[in-house]
Amino acid sequence: MAGEVDGSGAIALGMGRILDDARALATHWRPLVGEWLGVRRAPGPVRAPVGSLPDRDAWEAAGFGAFWFGQATTMFRMGGVTVLTDPHFGERSGVSVGGRGTGRVRSTALPAGIADLPPVDVVLLSHAHMDHWEKASLERLARRETVAVIPRRTRRLLPRGFGGVVEIDWDQAREVEGLEILAVRPRHWGARYVWDIHRGYNAYVLREGSRRVVFAGDTAETDAFDWLGGDGVDVAAMGIGNYYRPWDRVHATPEQVAAMAARMGAQRLMPIHHSTFRDPSEHIDEPLERLARVWDPSRIVCARVGESLLESVEWVPATARD
Ligand SMILES: [Fe+2]
Repeated sequence: MAGEVDGSGAIALGMGRILDDARALATHWRPLVGEWLGVRRAPGPVRAPVGSLPDRDAWEAAGFGAFWFGQATTMFRMGGVTVLTDPHFGERSGVSVGGRGTGRVRSTALPAGIADLPPVDVVLLSHAHMDHWEKASLERLARRETVAVIPRRTRRLLPRGFGGVVEIDWDQAREVEGLEILAVRPRHWGARYVWDIHRGYNAYVLREGSRRVVFAGDTAETDAFDWLGGDGVDVAAMGIGNYYRPWDRVHATPEQVAAMAARMGAQRLMPIHHSTFRDPSEHIDEPLERLARVWDPSRIVCARVGESLLESVEWVPATARD
């Protein structure tokens, strides 16, 4: 059949792919090695956030709320519960070595810090990659009043002090603080370092009443959310950036995200994981510009760092609409 390859052909294709990936890394990322390691001065944030955190009373009174801090750090208000996802409030995307930050620098400043947050009921963690799971932020968020929801075999990475820890694996659902939280398998991986590939990695569906929210964490193109298409989804928070080689196997392009959101019946798309940490392979505005060409801009929410959405009305699922 056309397109099939034998064993040696597959190996040749695989090697070609590895060489192409190495070439892409060398071209775009090598000049930043000094910056990454914190030995060369990195430029400061180039953009200011467009908004700030809603006032606490307005946030807590909302029937539904959403806010984007940058990367995959979002906050939702549903059913009287505040959920904070993949909290990263550091200045660099990587680990701190001897008090010195490493990794990518912020290209848009944070709109708020941990001290500014309303009380957080649930911290929802998709996976332990450095830009999604920041130890310093988690240490500050670990309080008795807060429950952490984590993927399988990541508990040892979580600081002590949370009031509860709920580990969820793919296709499992738990009720947490009155919300139904279901874990879905995205197309990604969970190793924080290199060797610890046993760690889980989740996307989540949050449900409260008729409202359904998807927090996809990180994923490449996948049909894992298609089953939601019947009732649809109110808001889908999905990563639209960092998709050039070699990351194209683990992240989706804006066009792929629009296709996935359409298949899951998403009313609104909340594009995350872009214009936050400096990415030399794509222009800071490219992901959003590409998304706006393939997805109705009036159905894009919280697209820029610091933007919020507050609503009092209940969302009506597709099956209940006229
Ligand atoms: Fe990731």
